[in-house]
Amino acid sequence: MKAIEIRNKYLNFFKNHGHSVIPSAPLIPENDPSVLFTTAGMQPLVPYLLGEKHPAGVRLTDYQKCLRTNDIDEVGDNRHLTFFEMLGNWSLGDYFKDEAIAMSYEFLTKELGIDPSKLSVTCFAGDEDAPKDTVSAEAWKKAGIPEERIYFYGKDNNWWIAGEEGPCGPDTEMFLDTGKPACSPECQPSCNCGKYVEIWNNVFMEYYKSKDGSITKLKQQNVDTGLGLERMTMLLQGKETPFDTELFLPVMEKLKELAKVENIESRRIVAEHLRSSIMVISDGGRPSNIDRGYVLRRLIRRMTRHLNKLQINLDELGNLIDLYIETLKEMYPELVQNKEIIKQTIIEEKNKFMKTLSHGEKEFEKAVNKLKQENKNVIDGYTIFKLYETYGFPPEITSDLAKEQGIQIDLTEFDKLFKEHQEKSRLGSEQKFKGGLAEQNEQTTKYHTATHLLHKALQIVLGEHAKQNGSNITVERLRFDFTHPEKMTPEQLKQVEDIVNEQIKRDLKVTCEEMSLSEAKESGATGLFENKYGEKVKVYTIGDFSKEICGGPHVTHTGELGHFKIIKEESSSSGVRRIKAILE
Ligand code: SER
Repeated sequence: MKAIEIRNKYLNFFKNHGHSVIPSAPLIPENDPSVLFTTAGMQPLVPYLLGEKHPAGVRLTDYQKCLRTNDIDEVGDNRHLTFFEMLGNWSLGDYFKDEAIAMSYEFLTKELGIDPSKLSVTCFAGDEDAPKDTVSAEAWKKAGIPEERIYFYGKDNNWWIAGEEGPCGPDTEMFLDTGKPACSPECQPSCNCGKYVEIWNNVFMEYYKSKDGSITKLKQQNVDTGLGLERMTMLLQGKETPFDTELFLPVMEKLKELAKVENIESRRIVAEHLRSSIMVISDGGRPSNIDRGYVLRRLIRRMTRHLNKLQINLDELGNLIDLYIETLKEMYPELVQNKEIIKQTIIEEKNKFMKTLSHGEKEFEKAVNKLKQENKNVIDGYTIFKLYETYGFPPEITSDLAKEQGIQIDLTEFDKLFKEHQEKSRLGSEQKFKGGLAEQNEQTTKYHTATHLLHKALQIVLGEHAKQNGSNITVERLRFDFTHPEKMTPEQLKQVEDIVNEQIKRDLKVTCEEMSLSEAKESGATGLFENKYGEKVKVYTIGDFSKEICGGPHVTHTGELGHFKIIKEESSSSGVRRIKAILE
């Protein structure tokens, strides 16, 4: 079964069980300053898990594009991926454990045809925060899993939360026995010897963990499930790695044909990082030295170095991207329309890096020779930092080079230097690598409404072309990216500020209506996230001033906002300006 068939089967199965199919949110979260990328299917749905009404109803199903970079060093082995797709079904205060488990079992055994005797499951063992999950265990038994294949584990295995704070709860995980021999008589699903592979996770989100660590009950009992598509595809096809499935195979084979050196690990790194880069750029990411731009830069640079290591002519990169888009377009049709910008961005970044790559490699060799003379085999953090700062080597490139020479590197020291450097440049973004959830409180809600006013004011002052390109809100400020070719003049900034403050003074009423996407467009609403919420969308209207499709939440009257002040206007990337503003 191909990946696209598994996805379609999944969405149809849940549709037939009363779920609305909603489209994937972009990889780049629109209003969540706490994370760089969408790292889990639940992330774009957080407001709804917390109780906000979703326009598509209380039963949803989707596929979600995700990117996780915490294991970036591991890419190249036979399983780690940075970009992956999660299939999910969601109950927003509707069904709970019994029904979720019955549906999971039915989907796996009937739709995917998995032999029930190969399935085992794990449930939460219970602790001071939540009781032992006997309800899930009973539901599994009822579905057909015998008691001896139901295991109980603690929070380390069977509790799910994104980051430090947010909706969370016990989960029940499904494992497939690959048929490989057990590593020991005690081998269980929690063992990572490869015999048991986790295939699906049902999280029963009925709790909220606050910053201070306390756990309280949510307003509603939710279900959040996640099934990793690449892994399921590999298992159903009986393949050893995701790189052997149709998602990667054409590119892997092409790389083999082009390479003058045999190196499967480098081919996998190229195939993996190129796919992730394509997906990130297609969703609006651009390489830079900070935040998500830096993640993208790292992916492209490491890929470039491995292409070079394979002695592949770098002029082939454009053709490789064409081949990838051809391979993936059925799954992600948006790649076709973004093809030119994807190619241009990756090739430009490759060219930039090629200017310093060989110099950096020489610098690395020098450091290695020095070490060898001194009979040492650990590279210090300063060398790694110099390679980063002077030659643009992300640490994983140095780490690859070191591995190849049998040398260890001191990433702790590098991390310290890197953090100091980031703080000095006030670019502190490392927090965001940890993952987490958007804060939603009175202040961020105000900034959300202020963002709509700003957007409209920019269009009045600069013209219709000034469209939203990204938005990021914290309790301290709003940040808004929009398309505009040149720096704004002080007069324009003043005009924008005045218009926003005038709307605040008018104390306009903010109202919300649900309608179909076409009705929303007809009503003149700005179609920012056109297909984000599927059929039904929410339209927020601010008096006679602005009308936008948006998930909310918003204040009820603009008078609540206080005084609006722009504190910075700068370039964000080519053709995109960025405004930071505060409410006083
Ligand atoms: N949130 C859970 C996960 O990411 C289930 O979707 O695994």
